[in-house]
Amino acid sequence: MDKYRFETKIIHAGQKPDKTSKALATPIYQTSTFCFDSVEEAGDVNFGRQPGYMYSRAANPTVDAIQEKLCALEGGEAAVFTSSGMGAIGSLMVGMLESGDHLISGDTVYGGTDYVLRTNLPRMGIEVTMLDTRDLEAVKAAIKPNTKMIYVESPTNPTLKLTDISAISKIAKEHGIKVAVDNTFSPPPIQYPLALGADLVVHSVTKYINGHGDVIAGAVIGNAEDIQSIKAHGVTKLCGTTPSPFNAYLTLRGAKTLPLRIRQHCENAMELARFLEKREEVKLVNYPGLESHPQHELAKVQMNGMYSGIISFELKEGINGLSAFEAGKKLLNNLKLMAIAVSLGDPDTLIEHPASMTHDNVPVEERMKIGITDGLIRVSVGLEHIDDLKEDLEQAFEALQK
Ligand SMILES: Cc1ncc(COP(=O)(O)O)c(C=O)c1O
Repeated sequence: MDKYRFETKIIHAGQKPDKTSKALATPIYQTSTFCFDSVEEAGDVNFGRQPGYMYSRAANPTVDAIQEKLCALEGGEAAVFTSSGMGAIGSLMVGMLESGDHLISGDTVYGGTDYVLRTNLPRMGIEVTMLDTRDLEAVKAAIKPNTKMIYVESPTNPTLKLTDISAISKIAKEHGIKVAVDNTFSPPPIQYPLALGADLVVHSVTKYINGHGDVIAGAVIGNAEDIQSIKAHGVTKLCGTTPSPFNAYLTLRGAKTLPLRIRQHCENAMELARFLEKREEVKLVNYPGLESHPQHELAKVQMNGMYSGIISFELKEGINGLSAFEAGKKLLNNLKLMAIAVSLGDPDTLIEHPASMTHDNVPVEERMKIGITDGLIRVSVGLEHIDDLKEDLEQAFEALQK
């Protein structure tokens, strides 16, 4: 597949006509187990002396097909598909780290990941340092003899700060440390962490890669040795975060249109970000594609000039006498088209007010420290007509004055 361009690879990789029926679409092998003609054959398959399948927790043909497609997507040697993005992240940690190791992570990561890093890993004897990975000197200073991995999300959720993946990878290589990047927010053709020097990429496939809002799944992509370790210790043996063949099938189908969808998400997001920048109710718009983004120059290179479909913006205090917190809630409650929902990367525009919806239980000071201010709103810009999205926001902004 290497000689083909991205749009071609993402359609064809992993998809061969079915051996028995010649079906073009990969069949859903919805089975727990596989049969053998003899005990000898079972032993040979189980111990890898001959190809084949034994039990779907370990391997399944539909899952193999999506794993091959995901390799082509990120340019990795091997991939493992998991039952959720958190399953991928948990399996990465369990598969790559052990008691006594030290992990450096960005201090702004997805909430579930944050919990695993702060709670589960220390319980397993893994030391974790969380810091602002935009600060390369701070990263260098945090490296210890037992540091095994640097873990980053770029752009971060929901403040859309970037980490220089190339620079971090260079530092890590000098110390023999692995770099893992959560690339959920900006999948190819936007950002290619492996090409930038990272060793492993994780995804919540739930989001852009499947792209239709009907699957929970995840993946880790990297070199064959690391993926085998993650598969054996994390996914298949210990955690069992095995995906269903049906979700593998849906993702095979969804991923084929990834480049088309990504282009439209990016185009709509750029236009909506510019629209929001002009609204007098808005204090600040976070979008790496805007010239006003403090890391726009890095984004141009690292995100291939595409910037993804996620925007966050802050409402001003005192609009029509409302606090920013109340204005955030009121704005969302007046939307007619955009869905008030967490998640991202769906064809539908999803909008959320983190302070009231997802971070209500976080002490205000802590919430502020990670940039989740009272009036912050995150939008996963969908594939609807941009004018309908603007009109929906416009009428909701007008409703704030009533
Ligand atoms: C950046 C990021 N990583 C990982 C996850 C976890 O993925 P999942 O919900 O598929 O377990 C999410 C979920 O929102 C996410 O946004």
